[in-house]
Amino acid sequence: MTAPLFIPMPGNEAAARALATTLGIALGQLELRAFPDGETYMRFDSDLLGRSLAIVCTLDRPNDKILPLLFAAAAAKDLSATKVGLVAPYLAYMRQDRRFKPGEAVTSREMAQLLSDAFDWMVTVDPHLHRYSSLSEIYRIPTRVVHAASLMAEWIKANVPKALIIGPDSESEQWVSLVAKDAGVPYTVLEKVRRGDRDVEISISKLVDLGDRTPVFVDDIISTGRTMREAIRQIKARGHAAPVCVAVHGLFTADAYEALIRDGARVVTCNTVPHPSNAIDVQCAVGAAVRRLLS
Ligand code: R5P
Repeated sequence: MTAPLFIPMPGNEAAARALATTLGIALGQLELRAFPDGETYMRFDSDLLGRSLAIVCTLDRPNDKILPLLFAAAAAKDLSATKVGLVAPYLAYMRQDRRFKPGEAVTSREMAQLLSDAFDWMVTVDPHLHRYSSLSEIYRIPTRVVHAASLMAEWIKANVPKALIIGPDSESEQWVSLVAKDAGVPYTVLEKVRRGDRDVEISISKLVDLGDRTPVFVDDIISTGRTMREAIRQIKARGHAAPVCVAVHGLFTADAYEALIRDGARVVTCNTVPHPSNAIDVQCAVGAAVRRLLS
């Protein structure tokens, strides 16, 4: 059997290079370009015969990434790769996890079907598991989930003296409780009602007295930033300083990041989606999970 290979999809070169270096595994290239009509041309630069592959593709803004990714997986198998795995530090389409209104597509299931058909295994970081208890409810392939909680806790311990960790909603308690335990600080969870994509209401009735502690909001995803901004608004209205906002995945649609900075928050994310706010490195943990699957 030939040695395994990491292949980055566009935009994932740095992450794939870091993983390849950590694991001592070769890095291959996928040449990709658009034909004049917008269709995709792709070509692997390495011989894939008998090789096991890990394709690295974080799935923020997923719609333009999915088709080339599925083509790459199918082409690799056609070129006689033995196993083709996916390293997707951010896994998209996890939030539509039920039919809220008649006629809606449960896209988390559709995405799971597509990726399970295309890949032999998958590694991701803290997928948004709310109504699913694990990925195996919808993914048919072996999956490994890397948890960022201890790394986030380490960052908080090193950078925020006397933190009080606050989860913006009940869904966040699963992450918040672990981060607080690892950081050895207290936590509380607020109540959120989402009325629309950009319309969020947060109740801070459960907020304990902060005393001299620094509020640190912890969530899995910052997308529009509405959840964090509403929490910041409420906490500032109580006379507290703007908090530190820590998230696993910073998607930051439109001017979400700039708006949070304008609100006075310090914003920190894990490097699952490349962004200037990346301060918490999860690559080592991702590499360890990939190593287990490759062996
Ligand atoms: C909720 O389902 C997630 O845990 C996050 O709270 C949510 O995705 C944040 O979204 P936004 O930044 O758009 O408020």
